[in-house]
Amino acid sequence: MATASEKEMNVSSEPGFTPPKEVVIRCSRWTPSVGGKPAVKEYKVPYSQGMTVLDALLYAKENIDASLSFRYSCRMGICGSCGMLINGRPMLACETQIKELPPGPIETEPLANYDTIRDLATDFTDFFAHYRFVKPYLIRADKDDQEKPAKQYPQTEKDRLKYLQFSYCIMCGLCDAACPPVAMDPKYLGPQALAAAFRWIADSRDEGRAERAETVDHEHGCWQCHVAMTCSVVCPKGIDPALGIQMLKRLLILKRL
Ligand code: FES
Repeated sequence: MATASEKEMNVSSEPGFTPPKEVVIRCSRWTPSVGGKPAVKEYKVPYSQGMTVLDALLYAKENIDASLSFRYSCRMGICGSCGMLINGRPMLACETQIKELPPGPIETEPLANYDTIRDLATDFTDFFAHYRFVKPYLIRADKDDQEKPAKQYPQTEKDRLKYLQFSYCIMCGLCDAACPPVAMDPKYLGPQALAAAFRWIADSRDEGRAERAETVDHEHGCWQCHVAMTCSVVCPKGIDPALGIQMLKRLLILKRL
């Protein structure tokens, strides 16, 4: 029978999980600016209760190899910095507990569809450029009012629910890493930017629908989406970017009619 402390930590009392003594974590190592090719380096890390993949990487960096590079900040699924491929799937390292993964070595690689800066850290320059391109802010017809708003813009709960899930995005980029059209066309805006465009178009306070629609209605915009749905599967916040993109297509078709 599990002890009180084991119950509290939800470790050995959890069916199907036997805490390992150590975790083997295999990391892709490469600095493209220096040259060479990606190599895999393996680190053995002592397991502790509740350990996440980010915890294991931090242990390896602090105790075994200080040159190992990866990005993180909040350690609680808020900042969106720690995205990487974990056993081949785009995931947040800080939100992925070791006990959720199959037994055996854990493979970590940089996110697909992004250039690698070093090891597990990727370049988000294009990702943020695509986001800025769709004008992700409230647009008002009165520009003076937009620059210096003098009042609040009330909104009903029903109107808020039309875009609410899309406002939960933490911009971790996992959706773009899982998206087949992003892999084929680097200029494609991608699910994150397109879902953001829908978030603002669907906001009852926004008056920039026509202006913003132009940013997504082109060969690298929403029509590139093949509805693979992988973006929605990997989103750590439960957002459905694929839905937002289909809603954008619907709006554009209605506009043309
Ligand atoms: Fe902030 Fe993982 S470190 S989301």
